[in-house]
Amino acid sequence: MHLINDAPLDHFRKEGHFLVGFERRKTKDELRYPKKFATFAASMGKDKLRRFAENENFPNLIQPNFEYPPADHELKGKWHQNFFKNDHPIIVELGCGRGEYAVNLAEKFPDKNFIGIDWKGARLWRGAKTGVENNIANLGFARMQIQNCAALFAPNEVSEVWITFPDPNLEESRAKKRLTSPRYLDLYRKFMTADGIIHLKTDSRPFYDYTLEMIAEQKLKIFKQTSDLYNSEILDDVLSINTTYEKMWLKDGLKICYLQFKLNS
Ligand SMILES: C[S@@+](CC[C@H](N)C(=O)[O-])C[C@H]1O[C@@H](n2cnc3c(N)ncnc32)[C@H](O)[C@@H]1O
Repeated sequence: MHLINDAPLDHFRKEGHFLVGFERRKTKDELRYPKKFATFAASMGKDKLRRFAENENFPNLIQPNFEYPPADHELKGKWHQNFFKNDHPIIVELGCGRGEYAVNLAEKFPDKNFIGIDWKGARLWRGAKTGVENNIANLGFARMQIQNCAALFAPNEVSEVWITFPDPNLEESRAKKRLTSPRYLDLYRKFMTADGIIHLKTDSRPFYDYTLEMIAEQKLKIFKQTSDLYNSEILDDVLSINTTYEKMWLKDGLKICYLQFKLNS
């Protein structure tokens, strides 16, 4: 066992050290309802472990163990041949959480393939489980960091990307982490087709405006745009699919923004 002083936590996690004398600050709810929260947290913990164990056996979920720099995954360039066993277009949902878009689109469009990507296994479990229970053959999930997508997909392998309610990372110091920053758009160019299309759904007006600025800077073509989807004429049965986060924002009365644009000028 090792004591931690000032070293970054990630380093210690990677090296397999244990955290000693480190206590997370309690939330307001934990302080107000300690007993209720302890029971809830214990059941959450068990539920997470059960989900992680089930994830190990889902045939539609891969959990690549990327090191840095990431080596190419065995499915890179082979998703059609070895995973979907067809040559239909591949569409990816980034930061998919429970994968509502991937699942619903896969059911609506059996002649297209869908892959949901997120690093949170307990969330992905929901999408993967639904895929297995409903026998959705054109659906897969990958538990990994979006930054490593170029190790998972070959050039031209993906034709569309959905970015559903990404963390807006509005602080200037986090601008590079925004999923529509020039850095991420360049990443998508490494594996998307020349006429690749990006869809963005967000509750964050500043994030929507930022993305419009990036599109203007890079002279990209916009196909659809609205800063108030549910009061817009472009609303249809695809755009009205609700994600977990979207439901929360709608309940709070927030407006939903949507953009569809071409990745290359
Ligand atoms: C605000 S949530 C939205 C989840 C889902 N799309 C929805 O609308 O309910 C953002 C999601 O992105 C995932 N995420 C954020 N950064 C990521 C990254 N670099 N790689 C993989 N997943 C990431 C988080 O784990 C989280 O599930």
